[in-house]
Amino acid sequence: MSDVTARAAAGFSSAFGAEPAGLWAAPGRVNLIGEHTDYNDGFVLPFALPHRTVVAAAPLPSPRWRVWSEQSDETIEFDAAQADQPGKIDGWAGYVAGVVWALRSAGHDVPGASLAVASDVPAGAGLSSSAALESAVLTALADLGGLAVPVAERPELAQRAENDYVGMPCGIMDQSASIRAEAGHALFLDCRTLEIEQIPFDVASSGLAVLVVDTRAPHRHAGGEYASRRRACEEAAALLGVPALRDVEDLDAALAALPDEVMRRRVRHVVTEDQRVLDTVELLRAGRVREIGPLLTASHASMRDDFEITVPEVDLAVSTALAAGAYGARMTGGGFGGCVLALVDADALDAVAAAVAAGYAERAFTAPVWFAARPGAGAERVG
Ligand code: GLA
Repeated sequence: MSDVTARAAAGFSSAFGAEPAGLWAAPGRVNLIGEHTDYNDGFVLPFALPHRTVVAAAPLPSPRWRVWSEQSDETIEFDAAQADQPGKIDGWAGYVAGVVWALRSAGHDVPGASLAVASDVPAGAGLSSSAALESAVLTALADLGGLAVPVAERPELAQRAENDYVGMPCGIMDQSASIRAEAGHALFLDCRTLEIEQIPFDVASSGLAVLVVDTRAPHRHAGGEYASRRRACEEAAALLGVPALRDVEDLDAALAALPDEVMRRRVRHVVTEDQRVLDTVELLRAGRVREIGPLLTASHASMRDDFEITVPEVDLAVSTALAAGAYGARMTGGGFGGCVLALVDADALDAVAAAVAAGYAERAFTAPVWFAARPGAGAERVG
C-alpha cells in the first residue's frame, strides 16, 4: 500500500471510527503541450503523475456526506439540500460537494458516504490537485453506489463540479487526464469531440527524462487572469464568426480581421499551440521523442509573448534549463506561476535541476523543488 493510500485508510479509521469499504485514487497531471487550448475546443497532450489523491470511503444509509481531509484535519458535513445549491459548501470540501451536485444533477442516485482524503499532489502548484480530488471522489461514489457512469463521461461531470459548483471556469483537460490517462502514455485529447488516443510516452527507454520544476512562485491573480483570457478567446471567436478558435483555418486572415493587438496575440497563441500539439503527437507516434524539444520551447515563447501568462520565476526556469542542455522546456498548466517541465537526458537530470536552483538563488527567488515525472495511471480503485 502506498504511503498516501495508507494515510487515507488510517485517516478514515480515526475520523469515523470504522473501516472504509474501499479506497480510490486519482492523479494530478502535467501537460506536455497544449496550453489554454482546451476551452477553445482544441487539442491537449497531458499525462498523469504518479502523485495521487486517495479517498477512503464507506456508504451512509441516508443522502448526506461527511468528509475528512488530512490537509486541514477537519471533517465537513453536508446534506443533499446543501449539495444541490452550487457554492453553498466552500473551501476544499466544495470540490467534493460539487461532484455530488454534478452526479445528482445528471440524475444519479448518489449514495450518502463518509470520505477521508489524503494526497501527495502538491496543492497550488498547477499540477491539478483539484481535478485529482474531484476525480477520486467521483470514482469512489460511482463505485460505491454502482452508478452507471461511463468512464468517458466522467471528466465532464468533474468539470461541471468545478465550473458550476465551485465557480472556476476551467476546461476539460485536467479532469480528462486524471480520469482517462494510462501509465506510460500521454493522453492526446480532442477537446471538441472528446476522442482520445493514448500516445506511448516512455521517455526512459530513449535515455530521456521529464524534469518538473515547481517554481513555487505565488499564483498572482491566477483566477481572474484565467477567466479574462478565456473571455478574450470567446470574444475573438465571435468576432471571427467561428464556433471556437479551433476553427480558425487561415491565421493571417484571422489576425488581419481582428480589431486590436492584444486580441491578435491571444488568437495567435491558441492557433499555433493547437498545431504544436498535432506536431508533437506526430513526432511521438514516430518515436522521435528528442525532436519534440523545440516545440515545447516554442510553446513557452508563445505563452510568454502572446498569451502573456508567464512570470519571471517561470521564464528563468525555462531559460536556465535550456542553457543547461535541456532539449526543450515550457511552463505547464494555467500560468502565473506553477511548474515548468523540461525534456532532458536522463543522466543530466540532476545537473539541469541544480542549474535552475542556482539561478533562483542568484536572483533571491524562493528555492524551487523538482522531480522526474513518469506517466502514471488514471483514476482507479486501489483497495
Ligand atoms: C488549467 C485549467 C485547464 C486548462 C489549463 C491551461 O489547468 O484547469 O482546463 O485550461 O489551465 O491549459
